Amino acid sequence: MLRPVSATSTGAMSSSDNKPAQTLADLGITQTDQVVSLFAEVRARFDSQASRPLDLPNWEILRQSWIGRKSGALTLITENWLNPASPDLKRSVGQELNKLKAHLEATLEERKLDIESLVDQGASIRERVDLSLPGVIRPIGSHHLIRQVFQEIEDIFFSIGFSVVEGPEIETPYYNFEALNIPEFHPVRDDMDTFYLELPKGAPTPLLLRTHTSPMQIRTMEKQKPPVRVIVPGKVYRRDNPDATHSFAFHQIEGLAVDTDITFCDFTGTIEYFVKQFFGPSVKTRFRPSYFPFTEPSVEFDVSCPFCGGTGTSAGGGTCSKCKGAAWIELFGAGMVDPAVYGFVNYDAKKVSGFAFGIGIDRLAMLKYGIDDIQVFFQNDVRFLRQFP
Ligand code: PHE
Repeated sequence: MLRPVSATSTGAMSSSDNKPAQTLADLGITQTDQVVSLFAEVRARFDSQASRPLDLPNWEILRQSWIGRKSGALTLITENWLNPASPDLKRSVGQELNKLKAHLEATLEERKLDIESLVDQGASIRERVDLSLPGVIRPIGSHHLIRQVFQEIEDIFFSIGFSVVEGPEIETPYYNFEALNIPEFHPVRDDMDTFYLELPKGAPTPLLLRTHTSPMQIRTMEKQKPPVRVIVPGKVYRRDNPDATHSFAFHQIEGLAVDTDITFCDFTGTIEYFVKQFFGPSVKTRFRPSYFPFTEPSVEFDVSCPFCGGTGTSAGGGTCSKCKGAAWIELFGAGMVDPAVYGFVNYDAKKVSGFAFGIGIDRLAMLKYGIDDIQVFFQNDVRFLRQFP
């Protein structure tokens, strides 16, 4: 009786070790086409094992189990199927066995080359990495000149006991104006006309881009009792048309010192110390009366021109291009805190006194580093930025 050839898939070889355990007669194989099918199945079994991902040790195990001389499948097929085969099957078993052998050897060789070429690739990648070469240099940026000047000024004020606070660039009119003693319809608001945000109807308060860093005077004093010694670096906005000295966004550092015993002398001494640290010890300072609603008295600080030594004349004998021959350069506004401001923050105006100043950073940076167009700070052209690494 013929047994279906498919029975060989469970019967002809034990499933774990590829080994043909029985003779063809045991398997009930009596015809050539059965032999062909049997070998096709063996071959398929090998192919599926050989097509798995292999490393060299696994390849060696595969090779042993199929063509290993002692107990590989080929040897056992020879012993169990070929040698005892009946004379009419022997020829076809021999042919099939030779085909199988050639296929196994060729495939195993091929797989070995695959594995070796992968290993080679790994090795050659390793060889190509020369650890003694310098690494890839990626360009990294540096601090913007404005940031550097902030830092320089912060360091000077750190050294005399000030600390840094920062505040919102979007403000309410209360902090930007009212609490700084600038009521609605006060004429100085005209100078500080700015950008108001478009808000939904019924918003509790209008919002605007701060026109100066002074709102942080109020926010700081609301939060802490005297003594106060802070500087506030930040961006501010005004509706200025851009030209070489104007930009709708620019930078300020606000300063505020409030305590029980701060005098006008402390004020001028502090400013003088800062200016000498920033421009060098030989510069002189002077102040002129000015007006700000939140300081009283208010002053405008000037510095003797650091570029012509306060002579108004350049080294070549012509007019100094920095101070335009004036010998003095206008620096920034400042003053003693107006007592009315203390009323907004619950400070006792009878007990405390203090001073405040607002330094325009862009102007200072332009002066110190000889830059004649404020717009370069905002264009961020690397050819400019790289000059201040
Ligand atoms: N906030 C003023 C301005 O932007 C400058 C200033 C600050 C003046 C502090 C006095 C005191 O013009």
